[in-house]
Amino acid sequence: MKSITVLGATGSIGASTADIMLRHRDLFTAYALVGHRNVARMRELAETLHPQWVVMTDEEAAREIKGTLPEGVRLEAGMDAAIAMAEADDVDMVMAAMVGSVGLPAALAAVKAGKRVGLANKECLVTAGRLFMRAASEAGADVVPVDSEHAAVHQCLIGHDRGSVSRIILTASGGPFRDRDPATLEAVTPEEAVAHPNWDMGAKISIDSATMMNKALELIEARWLFDMPPEKLEAVIHPQSIVHALVEYRDGSMLAQLAEPDMRAPVAYALQTDPRLNSGITALDLARHGRLDFKAIDDTVFPAVRLAQTVMRCHDSVAVAFNAANEVANQAFRQGHIPFTAILKVVEHAVSGIEDVSVDSLDQVWSCDHEARQFAATLIDSRKYLEPLTVSSA
Ligand SMILES: NC(=O)c1ccc[n+]([C@@H]2O[C@H](COP(=O)([O-])OP(=O)(O)OC[C@H]3O[C@@H](n4cnc5c(N)ncnc54)[C@H](OP(=O)(O)O)[C@@H]3O)[C@@H](O)[C@H]2O)c1
Repeated sequence: MKSITVLGATGSIGASTADIMLRHRDLFTAYALVGHRNVARMRELAETLHPQWVVMTDEEAAREIKGTLPEGVRLEAGMDAAIAMAEADDVDMVMAAMVGSVGLPAALAAVKAGKRVGLANKECLVTAGRLFMRAASEAGADVVPVDSEHAAVHQCLIGHDRGSVSRIILTASGGPFRDRDPATLEAVTPEEAVAHPNWDMGAKISIDSATMMNKALELIEARWLFDMPPEKLEAVIHPQSIVHALVEYRDGSMLAQLAEPDMRAPVAYALQTDPRLNSGITALDLARHGRLDFKAIDDTVFPAVRLAQTVMRCHDSVAVAFNAANEVANQAFRQGHIPFTAILKVVEHAVSGIEDVSVDSLDQVWSCDHEARQFAATLIDSRKYLEPLTVSSA
């Protein structure tokens, strides 16, 4: 029996994780479920998974849920409690599925404690990839990607010499606006942007998919996970989301991993790689699909991936700013404060505004993160993101 802490249990990846744990009750038990504000969902999860602990990182949500959990389930509140649940001696594995860089301290605590970590929370690696992977290596922690593309790469790399890899290619669905007239993007609503054609995901990542920031963040994530230089990392549009990634070797061979788009597959793989688990996803019927399409990303309309290539060639402060400004702009769009097309303008301004310096400690990560968030918020309030960039980041 593996004892698991799920960070972000109340979210979309949390739901896929609960599904796999319930299918394999003989293999997994919940040590702690960690949520933020979604009290109703946490009650449901506590009923079905019977964890030893529930943590609501939001204090008010913790007060609300108090006294309503099943008998024997203990309650804690706050991020420090979440961190304690991630590093507890009784925990074998942590699913890191909070959204945003706020998830970094708990995921990092799990890694430092030498746990197997299923990593969905890509913002951890974008903001602190160097520190995170170094900590994992020092503690002997296994970091298994949950992002479907990275889980695919992980599978295509097994048994192969890393030095023989010539390219890693992540596929991108292209999001809901892949075929949209660019002139109409200014007016799209958060409801339209969140409606992903292939995946059912949380709001933030759905907007990231629509702007293609998700693929940009994933390239930076891949860089750290697989220790690959930026020039070996690419993305291509694949509207069906069936081929999740490809690894090309120097002899010209490409290995790909294919599956129906259902996050339960990579979640199951992260929970137990070998032997494989039944994930419950629909079997892939290639004849029914009939075709698989691929096309290049138009970076005049979706500049995020091009920008990520620039970011990866800078010092780490720029990646922190890239992520932080995106989190601020993504939320501002969802709240109706800026148009869709402003998200990338805010990010580009933040990337050119931050000092390009190395980041060697978590304190420095948070200081850059804070600076970039303030910078992005000011840009949004003053609408300065509309001004042309004076210092080019490209
Ligand atoms: N969904 C997918 O298919 C998918 C695929 C690949 C990678 N990912 C990555 O996985 C992560 C989670 O995505 P998701 O789609 O599952 O997101 P989601 O559905 O929005 O869930 C986010 C989770 O994080 C918690 N959370 C939100 N704000 C928090 C805060 N300030 N402090 C602590 N916890 C907080 C939420 O708690 P409450 O709901 O209780 O407030 C929820 O449990 C993201 O990094 C995303 O990029 C997701």
